Amino acid sequence: MRIQVKMSDSSPLPLSRPVVLVGLMGAGKSTVGRRLAAQLALPFVDSDNEIVEAAGCSIADIFEIYGEAIFRDLEQRVMLRLLSGGPQVIATGGGAFMSPPIRSAIREKAISVWLKAGLETLLDRVSRRDHRPLLKSGDKSATLSRLMDERYPVYAEADITIDSNAGPHETVVEHIIEALQQKALHA
Ligand code: S3P
Repeated sequence: MRIQVKMSDSSPLPLSRPVVLVGLMGAGKSTVGRRLAAQLALPFVDSDNEIVEAAGCSIADIFEIYGEAIFRDLEQRVMLRLLSGGPQVIATGGGAFMSPPIRSAIREKAISVWLKAGLETLLDRVSRRDHRPLLKSGDKSATLSRLMDERYPVYAEADITIDSNAGPHETVVEHIIEALQQKALHA
């Protein structure tokens, strides 16, 4: 199915695939994703929320009671289901794009957007809440910095990279829409 979305500057953005936001914890995937979906008049889903709904307990509880491997398994099942759902904006958990099967399904079925953020920004945002199991123990800065080293080369495989430090969320959303328009023009 091909959807014609009327943009505010009245240039049409044809989206036939989901837009998947990837990036580290604190990159702004959920907030930006929700706003992007509203601008594009598309549904918004957050894969972490879908996992919580499917499991009937929080992400922290899934990690604590069942372990990370079970969480990753659930994440894969949820992501593969969401990716078959047609045009929508999907915010992923920070580890989702690191999974080869999820990554190849995203490549096949969606347009991926990496929200790239610097350590300071990530630290500032993750410090506001304390619900993330990977950041519960140890030094948050050291953990995020290690994850940046491990994951940024893989996130760089996304179709589009957007600087999430470029300004307020509205600016980041504008930059994503511009990049999607460019991509549509050259598709
Ligand atoms: C994770 C990120 C979290 C969540 C889980 C694991 C990760 O999502 O999926 O705690 O491996 O980076 P957010 O990126 O939305 O915080």
